[in-house]
Amino acid sequence: MSEILFTIDGKEVKAPEGTTLLEAAKSIGITIPTLCYHEKLEPFGGCRLCIVEVESRGWTKLVVSCVYPVEKNITVRTRSEKVDRIRKMVLELQLAHAPDAFDLQDLAKEYGADKNRFEKEPSFCIHCGLCVRYCAEVKKKNAVGFVDRGIRKEISFVPEIASKECWNCKECFPLCPTEALQAAYVLVQALAFPAGSGRAESGK
Ligand code: SF4
Ligand code: FES
Repeated sequence: MSEILFTIDGKEVKAPEGTTLLEAAKSIGITIPTLCYHEKLEPFGGCRLCIVEVESRGWTKLVVSCVYPVEKNITVRTRSEKVDRIRKMVLELQLAHAPDAFDLQDLAKEYGADKNRFEKEPSFCIHCGLCVRYCAEVKKKNAVGFVDRGIRKEISFVPEIASKECWNCKECFPLCPTEALQAAYVLVQALAFPAGSGRAESGK
């Protein structure tokens, strides 16, 4: 596989063809913020927080770095006025779902995002899909999925699968940027293991 030479934030980078800009930046110690990326999962490109500026032959464009492959001789800027403005907006939209999530609060501080800019959304879920994709792609269980569409989109555990598979797994909990996935699980747990069944108290 051929190596592609280009620059990120003024540093020369050499990365194998097919590498994403996010991975290439990481390989030289440059961190780009992400909400829906996970190294074990297929690129998704859902949250748009990882957006960066790419300059090529005098043209500048914004690209989603977790899905955009490296290209010869491009100049990548991971911070700029435009990039920061977009990240601020993305965060403000996400904060309307989960204003108290630590990950979002830290990023909000860095990008000057106002958690009260948009009206509070009823659902904590920011639709990053990490729990759903991890369960499907890594665990191959499909115990959690999305229901409904658009603004009504929500995650939901499939009780028949969750009651068998989730108890000893729970690997999706720490992935959730809103720290609230657990609430959904606990809810299903309550449905799947009604009080007095004894299962709920015996787990890890
Ligand atoms: S519950 Fe959490 S991990 Fe799952 S899609 Fe929503 S925000 Fe992402
Ligand atoms: S991390 Fe790239 S779009 Fe979410």
